[in-house]
Amino acid sequence: MAKSPEHFWIEARKIADASEKRVSTSKNVFCGTVHYDRALIAGVPVCRMTVVPPGSAWPKSYAIDAASRQPWKTLKKPPSGLRLSWRQESESRWLVQWSITPEVQCWGLGERYGGMNLRGRVHTLFATDNDQHIESTDSLYKSIPMLTLVEGETAYAVFLDSPALQRWDLDSTRNGAVSVTLLSRRAFTLYWFESSSLPDIVAAYTHLTGRCDLPPRWSLGHQQSRWSYPTEQVVRNIAKEFRTRKIPCDAIVLDIDYMDDYRVFTISRERFPRFERLVADVSKMGFRVVTIVDPGVAKSPSDATFREGRRLNAFCTKADGSLFVGKVWPGAACLPDFINVEVRNWWGDKLDFLLSKGVAGIWNDMNEPALFGNQRPLSADARELPSDQEQLFVQHDSKGTVGHFEVRNVYGQQMALATHDAMRRARPNERLFALTRSGYAGIQRTSAVWLGDNASWFEHLRASIPMLLNVSLSGVAFCGVDIGGFGGNTDAELLVRWYQLGIFYPFCRNHCALNGRAQEPWSFGPEVEKAIRRLLSVRYRLLPYFEQLFAEHRQCGAPLMRPMAWHYPSDSTARQIDDQFMFGSDILVAPILQRGKSRRPVYLPKGRWFRFDGGPALRGGRFYDVEYRLDSTPAFVKEGAILPMASPVVHTGQLATAAITFRCFGIQAKGRYWQDDGSTLGYERGEYNDWMLSFSNHRFTSKSIHRGFEPVARPYFYETAGRRHQLRDWPPTATSTD
Ligand code: GLC
Repeated sequence: MAKSPEHFWIEARKIADASEKRVSTSKNVFCGTVHYDRALIAGVPVCRMTVVPPGSAWPKSYAIDAASRQPWKTLKKPPSGLRLSWRQESESRWLVQWSITPEVQCWGLGERYGGMNLRGRVHTLFATDNDQHIESTDSLYKSIPMLTLVEGETAYAVFLDSPALQRWDLDSTRNGAVSVTLLSRRAFTLYWFESSSLPDIVAAYTHLTGRCDLPPRWSLGHQQSRWSYPTEQVVRNIAKEFRTRKIPCDAIVLDIDYMDDYRVFTISRERFPRFERLVADVSKMGFRVVTIVDPGVAKSPSDATFREGRRLNAFCTKADGSLFVGKVWPGAACLPDFINVEVRNWWGDKLDFLLSKGVAGIWNDMNEPALFGNQRPLSADARELPSDQEQLFVQHDSKGTVGHFEVRNVYGQQMALATHDAMRRARPNERLFALTRSGYAGIQRTSAVWLGDNASWFEHLRASIPMLLNVSLSGVAFCGVDIGGFGGNTDAELLVRWYQLGIFYPFCRNHCALNGRAQEPWSFGPEVEKAIRRLLSVRYRLLPYFEQLFAEHRQCGAPLMRPMAWHYPSDSTARQIDDQFMFGSDILVAPILQRGKSRRPVYLPKGRWFRFDGGPALRGGRFYDVEYRLDSTPAFVKEGAILPMASPVVHTGQLATAAITFRCFGIQAKGRYWQDDGSTLGYERGEYNDWMLSFSNHRFTSKSIHRGFEPVARPYFYETAGRRHQLRDWPPTATSTD
């Protein structure tokens, strides 16, 4: 007869108690197997340790990209690069420890509220719906257990691949001790990335966990959202306002009120009587429609999704097999068990309800999963995991039953996977846009993310920079926060300042809560509207540069938003800065982040810089006191850069024929220009063009690196010292030309 895990556990305890030799410290009760291996991943030496407790199966990774090639070499003993100790302290508690030098800064770890350096605190990773982001906030929506430790000019990193609760103590006692506590009874894998450059660490991590596919061009445009646009007519009016006022916008987002009683896969025909027609009409105006989808299915015999789900055993259950019922938007609700591939497929097929109506993007929300009245189902300071049977509910995958807390951190990620796979099935050659609130390591393969329910506060505008930088270093390049702030009431000044920064968020969406005042760009009068129109127009003009950066992300994992140290690793001042950032290698963004201010100190690293909006070159290596008007672009461009910029448009459908200007900064400059159709997967088959651009001795030249795409005819220019010159025969047929 097979022995139960409990049996092994009793045995393990006996052995640990009886034999000092079997344990590395007095508290280690581990008696399973450990497997060590090592590999060179994207040039970075990585050690891997897989720990399998007795009776437990080899760990299933939800993070690792199955498509990545991994040349692991098994080792007989722990690799010397692995500078940590670990032990199992109790049946469900593991401890990993190492020490850090005083200068180390701790970056990454997914979505954390606060500044960029996470050192000095304990950070719990346990997916949590929390709409009160304040200094003492711990767990948030996403859990990405990838920590990068920056030590002078180099960095090393630790990735603990387990979807159970983790507590990272990053030197809270200020003696250089770091520890990670994992509450799980199951096997896990730990990766140690040895000392390398920061870009190399991110390249290696995203080699393992995947990179985001090129987003559809429209999804890089401005998206307008609100909880909720209540009726079809309101949505039509919003669309009309954008076009009449010539404010760039590409998507209108429908929050929960498009549904009937908040029931997923329904449409309120009372408020959206001709939903399909609405989608078609606004798409003629150049808008896409994105709809929210929540996981909670109304527990009601009158609900078709509930009936089907029940028949298919698709919902999470209590240990005794009865349905688990929680409370969310539709009232009593059941949760699909997304770790089960059959449930994912079923859910994916249900999405056809929206996709077949022309909905372009899916927004997955509440997928921590959030439950009213029970947002923290396990206390943050829990020292043990309840047994599987005593956890909030149990889930079932192909290997059997597992307590929810063992896999909680992938609930949202698996819902996002169901969404992505369904969209891929429905639209095999299209680029997809899905957005998620919760996620785990590897979420970048299926979704863009936003950081949940922020508030209309300058503090949250300020926090968005370090938070998005940490998310970006955790592999997730396509990210943003609600522009204008979600909770509370925004005001004219905050909204404009938020757009000044928000035009550089990879994901750019204005969204606000039910009771907040209107915050569409025209809500605060003509001056504010004019400023926002101008700012959004800057984003749209820069979209060719955005696309080039996404192409770069696919090649090497580099995020769009990068900490200053990414490009200036030996600059110790740059390493301390988290209120400005690099957007790609050429643009430095340093916006106003405080109420009542129109000036701020901006640090320009060594080299020479130009204000984005024009002006003389400034010598770097020092701080400047910089003034920004309400319509200023809060950015600087590095001397020697060439930025591909489009002429102004109001939606991305107009971009393919818009004139392109290669803006050269300085008398010697270099740049890159990526070009493809912006909507299909053709680029995966080589249907794109990639150019190296250069400007020197008053001549503009280009070299083709790849040619596989036939662009629509459009005018091209280069611009130097404020003067534009047309490039008559561009793109050239030969490899290089004026
Ligand atoms: C959650 C989301 C928010 C959304 C609201 C209503 O709070 O985070 O963005 O508007 O639910 O669906």
